[in-house]
Amino acid sequence: MTSVTSLTDLVHQRLTDALTSALPETDGVDPLLRRSDRADYQANGILALAKKAKANPRELATQVVAQIESGDVIKDVEVSGPGFLNITISDKAITQNLAARYADTERLGVPRKDTPGVTIVDYAQPNVAKEMHVGHLRSAVIGDALRGMLDFTGERTIGRHHIGDWGTQFGMLIQYLFEHPGELAPAAEVDGEQAMSNLNRVYKASRAVFDADEEFKERARKRVVALQSGDKETLELWQQFVDESKVYFYSVFEKLDMEVRDEEIVGESAYNEGMPETARLLEEMGVAVRSEGALVVFFDEIRGKDDQPVPLIVQKADGGFGYAASDLTAIRDRVFDLKATTLLYVVDVRQSLHFRMVFETARRAGWLSDEVTAHNMGYGTVLGADGKPFKTREGETVRLEDLLDEAVERATAVVREKAERVGLTEEEIVENGRYVGIGAVKYADLSTSANRDYKFDLDQMVSLNGDTSVYLQYAYARIKSILRKAEGAGPVAHPELELAPAERALGLHLDAFGELLAEATAEYAPHKLAAYLYQLASLYTTFYDQCPVLKAETPAQVENRLFLCDVTARTLHQGMALLGIRTPERL
Ligand code: ARG
Repeated sequence: MTSVTSLTDLVHQRLTDALTSALPETDGVDPLLRRSDRADYQANGILALAKKAKANPRELATQVVAQIESGDVIKDVEVSGPGFLNITISDKAITQNLAARYADTERLGVPRKDTPGVTIVDYAQPNVAKEMHVGHLRSAVIGDALRGMLDFTGERTIGRHHIGDWGTQFGMLIQYLFEHPGELAPAAEVDGEQAMSNLNRVYKASRAVFDADEEFKERARKRVVALQSGDKETLELWQQFVDESKVYFYSVFEKLDMEVRDEEIVGESAYNEGMPETARLLEEMGVAVRSEGALVVFFDEIRGKDDQPVPLIVQKADGGFGYAASDLTAIRDRVFDLKATTLLYVVDVRQSLHFRMVFETARRAGWLSDEVTAHNMGYGTVLGADGKPFKTREGETVRLEDLLDEAVERATAVVREKAERVGLTEEEIVENGRYVGIGAVKYADLSTSANRDYKFDLDQMVSLNGDTSVYLQYAYARIKSILRKAEGAGPVAHPELELAPAERALGLHLDAFGELLAEATAEYAPHKLAAYLYQLASLYTTFYDQCPVLKAETPAQVENRLFLCDVTARTLHQGMALLGIRTPERL
């Protein structure tokens, strides 16, 4: 497990050293290094530095070139244009760096962060007694990918599934169950689908009585009070709703091929007891004030619709607590008990105003600070093919499960079409169909920047061409098949060999995996990782078209190309795994 310094870092270091010795008085020299099509890298920083030092940029560039240590890593540097540097890396350095990554079977030479913290990821937060919809899909998929990425960089993550399991809506449900015992089958006896259909039935029936019967309405209201004051019998009935819902949640998460741990399902109810204390603290500190009986926080800088200032309600005039109080209490728990350094919320962008107010309140109270920060990764809406929020033809919200089932069905058909050629068994077809279908849904979600809306288009998602997970999965399987076919020969690095342009391009991209990952993780941007992997698969395709592997000219070249294949496969596999997507060995 030795981490490998990337070629970009090596070149950056050498350029910085050369610049510093050419301009000893200037501090903070940045060569502004980037990948380039002309050479391997271009450095554009000399122009600005020359200006600052009142020097001629071309002369400075020439001076810097003379200082650069070339040979092992840098093969060639030349001055171009008004004072840019074009830098070419030696073939040997590319192969050697990849060989060092290859030797690290666990992490491909990717370093861990120097100072990891603790990030609480609030994601996958469905609501009790309700069906999950596409919005919950986004939170789950994005949150899971971010967690994978963060963990890989060495950060410690703790998941929190802030499920909606508390509030006045439970009065009606519990009262109905109280009056119609046995309407919910015990959770242990049902599967996910039955659980949800039971919950739906109870919900509809109780709603009907609630709307028609004033006296029931009153009994339901009293039931809310009983729930909040911790009445034992009421809590037991409430627990039945939670348990039944969990059976359903777990079945959906399993379909999503996603691990959710019971101890991380900590819903709104968990913060119930702490809410009065939260209110008391905020009032004592003067962060929240009484206004018409309610306890509220005012903001000058935060405005809602029509540019009107909106207060955050911590406690209603009737003494009740709501969503804001539970989130504020959760922050105290996460900061002081879980010792978080970062709070990350993966929640629909339509709740961003709520979070801005909650975070600002917590800052004023001193619970958040420059050291302990909170972010809402507000994600956009899932749209249908018509560009409008995703609905069924009847105008209803789409059930998440139906959607996943359809994706798997379509994917299985795609897999089946090619199955004979690869010789897949029926069992493998079914398993791959799942991985391809679920992968397609996840990838489509992750490959667009989270704050943007995206179109849910299954045809496009399972297409073999273009920026889809299937394309990446096939690239991976194709490499694996070549490695299997190699028989006698195996992947061995040969740094002495000259590389073809397609090999160089692939190699340089592979070497940049760790940097890309660090950047994508720091920015909470899984779409950058997706874009990297897509480019990797594309570069591999070009390599494969231009450079025969098993029929290469010499045995050493066969081995070196197999080696490039294998590093590509491992990088694809690792990257996809971080996004929560499987890569079948045979497809
Ligand atoms: N359950 C909420 C919903 O479905 C999302 C909860 C988000 N997390 C939070 N800490 N408020 O809209």
